[in-house]
Amino acid sequence: MEPSHAAPEHPSQRLTREIDITSLFAESGLRKRANVMLNDNTYEIDPSDVKNSWTYLAFMGFKAAREEKADVGTFVSVGTGPGIDGIGANEIFRPRSLVLTDIHKKVLPVAEMNFLNNLGRVKPDVFRVLHGNLCEPLAGRGIKADILYANLPNLPFHGRDIFGGINTASFFSERPAKVPREFRERLLALQHAFLLGGQKQLADGGLLLLNVGGRMPFRVIERLFESAGLSILRIVTLLKLQSEADVILKGYSDAEKKYGVEFDFYPYDEAVRSAPKLAFDAHSQRAALGHCRLSATDAYGAWKRGAKIAHLAHLVIAEKSRGKALPPFASRAIR
Ligand SMILES: C[S@@+](CC[C@H](N)C(=O)[O-])C[C@H]1O[C@@H](n2cnc3c(N)ncnc32)[C@H](O)[C@@H]1O
Repeated sequence: MEPSHAAPEHPSQRLTREIDITSLFAESGLRKRANVMLNDNTYEIDPSDVKNSWTYLAFMGFKAAREEKADVGTFVSVGTGPGIDGIGANEIFRPRSLVLTDIHKKVLPVAEMNFLNNLGRVKPDVFRVLHGNLCEPLAGRGIKADILYANLPNLPFHGRDIFGGINTASFFSERPAKVPREFRERLLALQHAFLLGGQKQLADGGLLLLNVGGRMPFRVIERLFESAGLSILRIVTLLKLQSEADVILKGYSDAEKKYGVEFDFYPYDEAVRSAPKLAFDAHSQRAALGHCRLSATDAYGAWKRGAKIAHLAHLVIAEKSRGKALPPFASRAIR
């Protein structure tokens, strides 16, 4: 493997602990042992509950995307956090080049170390770790992706030091783009900016994969992709426990009050009794959950009284639009 790690300067950091994430790979149908380090700034994963993790949804989406695209030259994860997505992508896509980026400098050496420490026999020819905002590190270097993946935060950051802790619930954008009201009110501003930039960094025939919360009617997500010149090909949906519930439910509840919109949450125990954990469409679980839907404000109240809260999460697989209509399953409105 060509040693071309363009890693940023190694900042002083505390490697807080090592965790065994073999269960994540096993639950995703992958035979691989993996251990990763996490520091104070990397995204958390609970190895005892991997089916409620975004990375599990990502891996299931990567497998669906592999059915669409078997030959992957370059895989990129934008906002990699601890780099677990890169380890899984390497196993699933076996790309010739693999690039991990993040806006948080202190997570990048951890992502790099985790990726290199978990390489088995499958190795990309080129591995790069790049720092920067959304797709800017790719655009600046002319990198085009065959698979471009991201799982980005939704809540705009209003505090003083966004890089002080785990930067997963809130986002920071160095150059905020002008965001259509519909997407700003649904807390999809960073996703909007990512799709606009990402579309330009796709290689011919490349696929863009976005992990996005399904806390709003799916037609909003369809419009988000359409507005960036992308057509949805496939969707994987996970009924997921709301993580970081204190911060995120409050953030969505505040947005409901500020913008007069409503988001979709569910009481977790009732939801898992009513709908399958995983589905390969956007709509079937939502239809089965209608009877127990909660607004963010109600869900936040229920969480404060001790309830566990669920939401839908979609891994959306899209390609550059060629002026063709959306497939019927993707364009069917729910409400
Ligand atoms: C929810 S975590 C996702 C981690 C990992 N990709 C996954 O799927 O599990 C979001 C990551 O995006 C990064 N991030 C936030 N804003 C960003 C931006 N504007 N550009 C690039 N990365 C960003 C955060 O530092 C964090 O590591």
